[in-house]
Amino acid sequence: MLKMMIPALALTQALAFVPLANTFAYSSTGMNAKGETIDLDVPFVPTPQPVVDKMLELADVKKGETVYDLGSGDGRIVVTAAKKFGAKGVGVDMDPERVKEAKENVRTNGVGHLVTIREGNALKTDVSKANVVTLYLLTDVNLKLKPTLQKLPAGTRVVSHDFAMGDWEPVREATVQAGGREHKIYLWKVGQGQAKSQVSRN
Ligand SMILES: C[S@@+](CC[C@H](N)C(=O)[O-])C[C@H]1O[C@@H](n2cnc3c(N)ncnc32)[C@H](O)[C@@H]1O
Repeated sequence: MLKMMIPALALTQALAFVPLANTFAYSSTGMNAKGETIDLDVPFVPTPQPVVDKMLELADVKKGETVYDLGSGDGRIVVTAAKKFGAKGVGVDMDPERVKEAKENVRTNGVGHLVTIREGNALKTDVSKANVVTLYLLTDVNLKLKPTLQKLPAGTRVVSHDFAMGDWEPVREATVQAGGREHKIYLWKVGQGQAKSQVSRN
């Protein structure tokens, strides 16, 4: 696949240009507690609130279910899942700055009893307890996650903002107008839209 390095600032704008972002892979950096540079697979671009609401609605999040947001940014998806839907949330982000912001967001919204924010790599996160996994990453990262997601229990829902999952056919799609552009939302259900060979554990 064609790879291209674009400075972090330009990424924020480029990510909004979805067809381009679907074609290229990016490089972005953050900083750890020691002041060392860390490589992020995706820059921080928050999902607009109307899109967050629609993602959770499309995934049919229910009270008591557990929502994992991989690359959780400021924590808005898991905070909304708790506040509006009574769900438990786990947000995972590699950037300590985002983790700090998300923990503050959890605190100010009074959902600390439902939501946990962790510093970690989305690609190494155990999501086996998730009923719903939310993503606003990039297609190449989604594709790396796909084999893990497809092995989750049948019926687990995966919802992605703007970026698809290759040959895994979504069961539903929606569009939301926000911030001057159209946002795509894709919903997958584990066990649906995937070939049997794709879920083999061997
Ligand atoms: C596009 S933002 C999405 C934030 C949030 N999920 C939302 O929709 O508002 C992507 C987030 O993923 C984080 N990130 C990038 N690479 C990651 C990785 N490998 N593991 C965990 N988080 C990562 C970034 O720090 C950033 O906060």
